[in-house]
Amino acid sequence: MDKKVTVIGAGNVGATAAQRLAEKELCDVVLVDIIEGVPQGKALDLSEAAPIEKHDAHLTGTNGYDASAGSNIVIITAGIARKPGMSRDDLISTNAGIVKSVTQEAAKRSPEAVLIIVSNPLDAMCHVAFETSGFAKERIIGMAGVLDSARFRAFIAMELNVSVENTHAFVLGGHGDTMVPLPRYSSVAGIPITELLSQDRIEALVKRTRSGGAEIVGLLKTGSAYYAPASAAVEMAESILKDKKKILPCAAYLEGEYGIHDLFIGVPVKLGAKGVEEVIQITLTDEEKAALQKSAAAVEELKAVLKKLV
Ligand code: APR
Repeated sequence: MDKKVTVIGAGNVGATAAQRLAEKELCDVVLVDIIEGVPQGKALDLSEAAPIEKHDAHLTGTNGYDASAGSNIVIITAGIARKPGMSRDDLISTNAGIVKSVTQEAAKRSPEAVLIIVSNPLDAMCHVAFETSGFAKERIIGMAGVLDSARFRAFIAMELNVSVENTHAFVLGGHGDTMVPLPRYSSVAGIPITELLSQDRIEALVKRTRSGGAEIVGLLKTGSAYYAPASAAVEMAESILKDKKKILPCAAYLEGEYGIHDLFIGVPVKLGAKGVEEVIQITLTDEEKAALQKSAAAVEELKAVLKKLV
């Protein structure tokens, strides 16, 4: 393939993302992990599936970073995942150090890459990658809104018994309990869900979306969600690799947009070859604005915690 994506962390999210990238023939994939044998084994296993899955993407597994050199995109999933009873924020002290070290190694070898951050707490980890890499803000993008919106879309489709393909949803804000699902901008075949569902039902779907990650953690018990997170990261990567310019909700660095300064938080962005090519500013009601501000305040708190850690 003429494009290369490095996925750091060959665990549940990383290996699933590698599989999806390869099976869609978007790029060659370099899978990096700290555990000896795991990235090599998973890359080889995926390569052996290639004749059946009919793709010619090359997959390499490694414990070092040399094979990652010149990547178009680096997806960072390294870190620990939460267990029942933990919030994403509980991961901050462990994952900040991991994200810092892997960003240093990857950025050195792929100075032109776009970094897609997946490790949690997401918005805070974007700050770590931004400060560590020294990359322009356009090339640091957090994966959260696409996942949260996909969850909202899945619940809307289940509720109305319609194709998921007919659904559209926007979830903004930080990737945590304060996220801001926007029913006014969520629709089925172009019809806002506010015209299709009662306020009570919408509130129930919003609540389920907010705790969507925790619902999976509660079921799995040994880790957190990975199929949908991997799909979300790959949708972002595809838009960048193919310069599709999709509008997707992602964590982006804001410098005044939505009245928010110097903070990574989920907003609609246009994703193309350069990374974040535009922050799309949609009009929000006073209530929606207040919810976004509350979410920004929660991310600010984490940013302050980070200052003491890294
Ligand atoms: N360098 C490279 N890989 C690392 C490092 C490091 N310094 N530290 C940890 N890892 C690897 C682990 O060895 C493991 O294989 O990261 C991988 C994480 O995989 P899982 O434990 O399966 O976690 P996963 O479910 O993939 O979640 C990863 O994404 O969604 C978020 O909250 C989640 O922060 C978590 C991350």
